[in-house]
Amino acid sequence: QGLHSLFVASGKLFFGTATDVNNVNDAPYQAILNNPNEFGMIVPENSQKWEAVQPTEAKFTFANADSLVTRAKAAGQQFRCHTLTWHSQLPPFISATAWTRATLTAALETHIANVMGHFKGSCYSWDVVNEALAEDGTFREDVFLQVLGTDYLAISFRAAAKADPATKLYYNDFNLETTKAKADGAVGIVQLLQKAGVRIDGVGFQAHFTVGGTPSQKSLVATLEKFTSLGMDVSWSELDIAHKNMSTATSASALSQQASDYVAAVGACLAVPKCVGITVWQFTDKYSWIPNTFPGMGDACLYTANYTKKPAYFAVASLL
Ligand code: XIL
Repeated sequence: QGLHSLFVASGKLFFGTATDVNNVNDAPYQAILNNPNEFGMIVPENSQKWEAVQPTEAKFTFANADSLVTRAKAAGQQFRCHTLTWHSQLPPFISATAWTRATLTAALETHIANVMGHFKGSCYSWDVVNEALAEDGTFREDVFLQVLGTDYLAISFRAAAKADPATKLYYNDFNLETTKAKADGAVGIVQLLQKAGVRIDGVGFQAHFTVGGTPSQKSLVATLEKFTSLGMDVSWSELDIAHKNMSTATSASALSQQASDYVAAVGACLAVPKCVGITVWQFTDKYSWIPNTFPGMGDACLYTANYTKKPAYFAVASLL
């Protein structure tokens, strides 16, 4: 038994984790990662991002991501692909180029056709556009918006649908769970694509929560249902629940609050039929991105840095 097999027995498609090539030589880590009962879905934490797969214009490098796909297949795990059109982790040529509408459209179409074409048949889903929204629900002022306006969304999803008709196409973002204006903005994105007749299959909620700051299960369900009522699949795509102050993270009360918060998140997905699955953004604190990005915060994962299962792990497992 493991989280994936338990989740599948509860009617869901997958419970998975992010990982990457920097983790492959850690044997105790790999022993947990490669158990397909624990994690049935793998998502590369960085290796499919634009800077990783097209670091210079028209030069595509897939070796790292390929090795992760090969490992997942060998372990009997599915693969979730992340991400195509995103303002962050772009290669230097993007900011060094004076784009026009025609050249940036072509650059997006070329990127998406090559990357999705390369991984065709290996991806359960693709995060086609990531983080297009500002916190107030308006569009993020990135290079794509500046040159193409909101057309870049339809351009991206149209290119994605053409490149791989079989994979699920997702919009992915954070704070949709906590910020109503931003969730409304994401509803607008789904509707904009649907009105344009462009395929979108799902919305990924990053679910980067904090201990004690995680919305209630009821609130999470209500947010997911805004999207399932538009016909979308939904998922928690990068779940982790960080202690705001790592120095108190090992107290019994902090661990128990973290467990309750994980239960709210997993319980909300269980309660929504079109919530297809969950991927956590690393399963051990040893490799969590949180302390590097939010100094002082952390211990956000289901396992400690020494691979001990936390109360949150047992609370989630007993829910399933
Ligand atoms: C993060 C990775 O975890 C880090 O290793 C990297 O340095 C920065 O990106 N939203 C996303 C993910 O969609 O791709 C980000 O991953 C975390 C926030």
